[in-house]
Order: sequence, then structure tokens, then C-alpha cells
Amino acid sequence: MTDSLLTPLLADAMVRVTEITALAASKQVGRGDEKKADQAAVDAMRNAFNAIDFKGRVVIGEGERDEAPMLYIGEEVGTRNGPEIDIALDPLEGTTLTAKAMANALAVLAIAPRGGLLHAPDTYMDKIAIGPGYDEGVIDLDRSPAENIRALADAKGRPVSDMTACVLDRPRHADIIASLREAGARIKLISDGDVAGVINTTDPATGVDLYIGQGGAPEGVLAAAALKCVGGQMQGRLMFRNEAERGRAERAGITEYDRKYGLDELASGETVFCATGVTDGDLLTGVRGEAGHVHTDTLVMTSADGMVRRIHSRHRD
Ligand code: FBP
Repeated sequence: MTDSLLTPLLADAMVRVTEITALAASKQVGRGDEKKADQAAVDAMRNAFNAIDFKGRVVIGEGERDEAPMLYIGEEVGTRNGPEIDIALDPLEGTTLTAKAMANALAVLAIAPRGGLLHAPDTYMDKIAIGPGYDEGVIDLDRSPAENIRALADAKGRPVSDMTACVLDRPRHADIIASLREAGARIKLISDGDVAGVINTTDPATGVDLYIGQGGAPEGVLAAAALKCVGGQMQGRLMFRNEAERGRAERAGITEYDRKYGLDELASGETVFCATGVTDGDLLTGVRGEAGHVHTDTLVMTSADGMVRRIHSRHRD
């Protein structure tokens, strides 16, 4: 089967996986226990994968084999019958958000045929992203945040004072924030959840024009897989705080530590991206209950045909 048919045909199965995962995680919303919330999501996602006819291999997961009992990097999932698929996953993107019942927690994954997703180690990544419709190169990680927001404002034909950049609210981003403020842009600070932060640049209704800053490298690949489906530009560069993190990169097969990855290098194959809301957020509504039923809201996208589908499901409680 060609790649262009392979992944779209698995999209429905992936919807079930993130739905089941979000339902399990939602039971832990507001209970103050990040570990328990993550564990519930991991168990549910793994069980769901193992019911699917495919040879799944986790390339971005919960950590390396010696530190993650389940869904570790390299773990094989599925019935072992069917196509060979690589998986990037974050069963619970926003463990703190879930534990504290805050907005924007998601169950999220991306798949591609073997070799179609960068094997990003569990380190940080410098990221910059915008939505579709602009000349290639309008943003660049090697330019300052101020230069990037000005170039994007020019491309959009709007004053910089009208532009909004989304940035994770972290002390390490003080210089980025100062540069954006000096340019006169608005900044939407988020406490967690940069997969949604990147995807928000593709939807004018969110008001986010640019995503910029340092977050998890695994989340960078997940966000790139999403942009590959819906269009947009993204660059990422791995960041290492110590030798142990460089070691992770080496084990993941990374040889050029300073490399600036473009969207098509972060996600080179035909991808399916799928996310279900755990708590209400900008991207999706969270799991909601009503007499005997629960409702889920899922976004599924395929790069082969640019399909974007929003699925509202009702499940028996
Ligand atoms: P978790 O799912 O592990 O809670 O990660 C949430 C998140 O905010 C990501 O979206 C982001 O990439 C990363 O954490 C940022 O890391 P840090 O909290 O160390 O700044």
C-alpha cells in the first residue's frame, strides 16, 4: 500500500486511541496528582494501541526504556499484523494542567510510515512556527524575535502592534519576551502546552500569529506533524543542558547537535495527527459528562490529503 493511503486509513483507529486516553486521564482532572494522571493516560493509550492491527513502534514516547515502564522509546505496540508505523506520542500533554484542572490538557499522538518522524530525544528544543499562506523563510530561528515578528507583520500587511506571539511563561524566555515587547507586539503567555500553542498559529480565530520559544523536543515533533497536515512553517533546534542530554541525542541517532530542522525534517513522512481534549482549551473542548454519558472532542488531520476533521463523540460512562 502506498504511504498516501496507509496513514489516512489508520486515522480512525488513532481517534479511538486518543479518545480512550483522554477519557482515562479525565478521571484525574483536578485531583492534584500528576503522576497518577500520566499513568492513567499511558495505560489507556498502550491498551488501545495493542488492539490495533499494525506494527507500531514508539519513536517519541514517555522516555528511554530504563526510565519508562510503558510506551518507552523503541517499544513495539499493536497486534504485529499490518503496516509498519512509527509513533510520536504524549498520552497527557499537560500533566500539571490536568492535576490542577487548568485549560489546554490534551491526549495527543502522531504517526507516519517507518522513518517519517524525527527521533527527537527527550531534551529541549528552540521552536518557531507560523500558520500557512506565507512565503517560505518569512521566519527564521536565527533571527531575533523582534525581526521575526516584524517580518511576519509585513507579510500579513498589519502593524506589529496588532500581532500576537505565543510564548511559554518561563524565566528562560525573558530575552524573547523583551525582544517582542521592544518590537511592540502583544504576547500571549501560556503556562504549559506548546503543542496547542504551535497549532493555534494556524487558526486565525485564536489570534495567535507566531509561536516562539523553548519547549520539549518531543512536543516539537508532535507540533510539526500537525503543521505538516494543515500547512504552516516551523523550525526547531535541539538544546542540551548537559552531557546526559547530549547522550540522549546520540542514542537517538542525532549526529549534528546544532542542526536547524525544518518542518519537513521534523516530520518527513505522510503523517496523521490526532488530539483529544482532556480539559477545555483553545484547541479543543475537554471531556464532559452528562447523565450516563461522556463527550469527547477530537481533532484529526492527515497530511496525505490535507484532511482536517473535528469529531464530537458520545460514550457510555
Ligand atoms: P507535560 O505534558 O510533561 O506536563 O509538558 C507540558 C509542557 O508545557 C510542554 O507543552 C512543553 O513543551 C514543556 O512542558 C515545557 O517544559 P518545561 O515545563 O520544562 O518548561
